[in-house]
This record gives sequence, structure tokens and C-alpha cells, in this order.
Amino acid sequence: MAENYKRYTVTAALPYANGPVHIGHLAGVYLPADIYVRYLRSQGRDVKFICGSDEHGVPITIRAKKEGITPQQAVDKYHELIKKSFEDFNVSFDIYSRTSSQTHHETASDFFLKLYNDGKFIEQTTQQYYDEKAQQFLADRYIVGTCPKCGNENAYGDQCESCGTSLNATDLINPKSTLSGAVPVMRETKHWYLPLNEYEAWLREWIVEGHKGDWKPNVYGQCKSWIDQGLQPRAVTRDLDWGVPVPVAGAEGKVLYVWFDAPIGYISATKDLTPDWETYWKDPESKLVHFIGKDNIVFHCIIFPSMLKAHGDYVLPDNVPANEFLNLEGDKISTSRNWAVWLHEYLEEFPGKGDVLRYTLCANAPESKDNDFTWKDYQARNNNELLAILGNFINRAVVLTQKYYKGEVPARGELQDYDKEVLGVLEGMPMVIATYIERYRFRDALSELMNLARLGNKYLADTEPWKLIKTDEERVKTIMNIALQISASLSILMEPFLPTSAQKLGSMLNKPVGTWAEAGSADLLPVGHVIGTPELMFEKVEDAAVEAQVQKLLDTKKANEVANAVVEPAKENISFEDFSKMDIRIGTIIEAEKVAKTKKLLKLKIDTGIDQRTVVSGIAEFFNPEEIIGQQVSILVNLAPREIKGITSQGMILMAENADGSLAFVQPSKEVKNGGTVS
Ligand code: MF3
Ligand code: ZN
Repeated sequence: MAENYKRYTVTAALPYANGPVHIGHLAGVYLPADIYVRYLRSQGRDVKFICGSDEHGVPITIRAKKEGITPQQAVDKYHELIKKSFEDFNVSFDIYSRTSSQTHHETASDFFLKLYNDGKFIEQTTQQYYDEKAQQFLADRYIVGTCPKCGNENAYGDQCESCGTSLNATDLINPKSTLSGAVPVMRETKHWYLPLNEYEAWLREWIVEGHKGDWKPNVYGQCKSWIDQGLQPRAVTRDLDWGVPVPVAGAEGKVLYVWFDAPIGYISATKDLTPDWETYWKDPESKLVHFIGKDNIVFHCIIFPSMLKAHGDYVLPDNVPANEFLNLEGDKISTSRNWAVWLHEYLEEFPGKGDVLRYTLCANAPESKDNDFTWKDYQARNNNELLAILGNFINRAVVLTQKYYKGEVPARGELQDYDKEVLGVLEGMPMVIATYIERYRFRDALSELMNLARLGNKYLADTEPWKLIKTDEERVKTIMNIALQISASLSILMEPFLPTSAQKLGSMLNKPVGTWAEAGSADLLPVGHVIGTPELMFEKVEDAAVEAQVQKLLDTKKANEVANAVVEPAKENISFEDFSKMDIRIGTIIEAEKVAKTKKLLKLKIDTGIDQRTVVSGIAEFFNPEEIIGQQVSILVNLAPREIKGITSQGMILMAENADGSLAFVQPSKEVKNGGTVS
């Protein structure tokens, strides 16, 4: 496809180095970016694929505090973990850098200074919350208080996580510092603002007029609505001790706002990669593309471009293909709730199956709406698509060639209509897939790739070379030649999506994966070329494997429920006399049966040491009658008898209740004779 650009600068959002990366990251940002870049490389285009860790910002300082380490130690740990996950999934960055690096500090600092010296900022003094005990200004995340909307007592200064309302710190009732517990006071502080309002007209022209129909509707729509609402000056500095120091006099204790420095990280990373970095950022013939998630749209489409525009030397993004979010088994992915499939854990549990996850996530990518990842779908995609269609086709082609021709590619004879039709589809396929990829429609591209494998499969199933070999050997040569040509093209076309499998296929065909321009050819494998030995491309994913994953998630859910359950506040004080009125004994259950026509009730006979008596207890949902006979329990024996479902209940069994409502007996820690008192 002809393009006016000479080279490509492709960035993927810098992940925060405050936790590992999960399938949502991969599906939304890094996988589509990697597919795009691998495709461009296969086309022989000049491309730099840039990423790194975003190591500043308040959440990182909070995370470090929680783990009892310094922010630098925290980012060191997560930077390595994240970097390795990307490598393991073959996300082929040309550089994976980090924003705590010296290059970045210098680059971000210089960028700020240029704007500062050019008078692009406005200075403003405002009142902000200050913690006198901790002696520092408080970022919104460091303030908790009561939500004015729903009354949640643990709302943050920027958002109430209970009702979802976004808040200002000053909205909170009874604000408290999470650093020291102190009640914060208001104090004056000076900051620098980028007057986005001054860029509004330009942004309107550039995006609303200029990129209509070209940017994805979700991206375009969000930008338009921001611009339509009117833009305000935006603070680009913060009172914080973690970040890039503000490089001007009178700014002690202040750093650049993380969303000011992080996107500059793309530039710093390119500097670390190549001395030729300026060409990739300043030459108008460089095409800049930002891959991001939808929560990053405003920063990459409005704020960063305004910064670049204010600076003046840089190109602007040609496109910002943001994705929506991926959910997991019907629930929002959440790091704090551990509701995620972590990339490093996946590879431990499914070694060698990186491509399977890449495939599933691309086939089901949240390109135009939020989507759901389920383990059932993962299994079905592997077994019914990768294995049954792609793997099966290639296996047949390679195995039959070995069997009939000792691996030598046979020559085609005269072509029938069916052969011509299949070769025609093959020839057109690289263009079809390329068009989708260049429009950032990776799901459609992948589905066309599978259609080619499907066609190959059907071609073999229809022509049945394994039967024909007995009656028409010449015809079989044609069929096998065509099947092999399709396989060779598949290795090229699948490489952006399934890089490991593409290499495997290349070695099976004894031919390195070729370039995009070669794909579609009917003569990719010359007659007489000897292919390699067959290997299985994909393995079946068994029920047990995915069931174990689902169970793991159910366990997480349980653990969260218990952890988040509110412990009931203590009741009012009572006197010792009040307490000693109760006569609690240890007894043993000697009979147990369900009370007819009830769900919850068991009728128990208890040996209390004093007597044997009947007690009706609401525990049937948690205990089988047979299993509790013989267990010791605590029983309140002087509770006035009560009539329950026509049975006289003489006393009450003491139960301990879990947050999820499950029950346990209150039992002595070693055997106590029936009738023993509890006090
Ligand atoms: N760290 C941000 C996030 O995970 C993304 C930063 S992208 C950059 O949402 F442009 F700022 F680098
Ligand atoms: Zn609320």
C-alpha cells in the first residue's frame, strides 16, 4: 500500500511500574501495537517501536509505602517484571526504557524549560490541602473522607470508589491525611499551568475537522466531547517528592505532573535507542502512532499534542488507535482485587502457549466495545480454531508431503477451476489482511488469516489426496503443491499475530519466514525444495486446565468477599451480672435430622451432661445431619424453651458466623466432658 510516510514511530502506552501486567494490558495496547509493527517490518518499512515503564506518579509512592520499600525499589522491581512479561509474549519493542532514567529526567526537564522560557505556561497560586504533621502537600489520593454523595467514609480525594463519583479533595466531609491521620489544612502553593483553552481552536481544526472518519469513532467522539465542553488550563506540576524536579528557581519540593513527563518518555526512549531519534520525532515524513487504552485518550489526543504544539519542533500523532476495556469472566479487571490473569502467571501455567493467548485476545479484542475474556472461550479458540483449522491444515500438508514425496515439493500439473480459485484467494489475501491492519482492524485481519487456513483445510477435504493417491498420482502432486504454497504464505501472514508459531512453521517448511511482498505467491516453495519434519503446532487445551483457572478466580472472589466484609461494631457494654445469667455448657450432638418442609432447620438431640434435650437450629444450609453427629458444641441451656415448627426447642447452639454467612460451631479446643461450663 502506498503511503506518504517514510518511517514510523510507534508507541505503546508506558505501563505504570506499580504492578505486573495482565491480559487487559496485552489485549488493549501491546498486542495490537506489536501486530502493527511486525506487519510494518515485514513490509520492509522503517519503524521504531517504543515503550518503557512509567515510573512516577502518586500511586507508585503509595504502593511503595504499602510494601515498606522506597519508590525507586518499587519501580525497579516492577520494571523488570513487566519487561520480562513483554519479552515472554514476544512483544517486539525496539526499546523498553523507563522514566526514572537520566535521559528521561533530562529530556523532560528540557522540554519543560523550553515551554517555560517561551512563556507557554501560566503561573497560579491556589489553596491546597497540606499535612502539617507530615509536612507536605497532599495529592488527592492521600486524602480520605466521607463521600458527600453516598456517605462512604473511605472516599478518596479524587474519587469515591463506592459510588463512582469523581470528586475534588475539597468536596470530602471530614477529610483526613492518609500519611499521618492528621486533619489537613489549606495552604497556598504555586504551580504552572498549560492553558489548554488557548489550543482549543487549533485542536478543533486538527481533530474535529481533520481526523473525522479517520480516527476510530470511540477516540474521535471522546475528543470532540472534551473540546465541545471547553478546555481549561491544566496544572503540569505537583507538590510531591517523587518525579522529575521542576527545573526553575522557587520550585523546591515540586515535580512535573506524571502526565506531563510520561509521554515525553516516548521521546527519551527513542533517544536511548538511536542517535537518529530526531528524525523519528521531528521529520514530517515520520508517521507517529500511539497505541493506548481508552482511559488515556485525553492525554494522548489533547494534552500531549498541545505540549508538542507548544514546543513547536515535533510531529503530531497521525493516529491514536485506542481500545476499549477487556473484562474477565464478566467482571472488571482489577489489580487491587486481584481480578486478572497476570501474564507472568499465565506462562507458568501454560508454558509455551504464549501464541494461544495472543490469538484469543486478538480474536476477541475490545476494539469497538468492552469485551469479556472467558476461559471457556480461550479453550474453544484453541481447540476449535488454532488446532482444528490452522494446525490441522498445516499438519496434513506437511505430513502428506513427507509421506508421498519424502518431503520434496512436487510440481503442479494442469490446473482445474478449483485450483485456480484457491490460488486466486491466496494471491489476494496479503492485500486484504494488510488493509485491515493499516486501518487498525486487527480482529478482522486475524479472521481473514483464519479464512485462508479454513480454505486450505476445505481444499484438502474436498479433493481428498489421501484417497486420490491410489488412482491419480499426478493430480495429487498439484494438490499438494498448492497446499504447501498456502502453508508458506500462512507462515508470513500469521507472523504478526503468532510469531512463535510462524517460526515453527518456517522450520517445518525448511524456509525462513519471508516478507509480506512474497506472501500470496504460488511459487513461494520451489519445486524440489525439501521441507522439514512435521511437528504439532498446537496442543489441545483440556477441560481440567481451564476448570483450574476458573476455580482460581472463584477462590479470589471468595477471598475478596471475606477480606472486604465489614466486621460488625461491638455492642453496648453489659455488666458481669448480665453475662453470668447465661448458663452455657459443652454438649455433644447425638441425633440430627432435617425439619420437614424447611430449608434451614435441623432438629438436634444434645447430650448436655445435665440431660438430653431437643434443640432446633438454623444451620441446615451448612451442615449435613449425618456429619455432625458426635461433634461437641456450646449450648445455652437456660434460654426459655420456644416452639419452632411444632417442636419445642430447649436451648440454643452457639455459632460463629463468617462474613460470607457461613457458619462454624464454637467448640472447646480440647475435649471437655459434657456438662462442662463456659464462662
Ligand atoms: N502509565 C499510564 C497508564 O498506565 C500510561 C502512560 S502513557 C504515556 O495509564 F504516554 F504517558 F507514557
Ligand atoms: Zn460515594
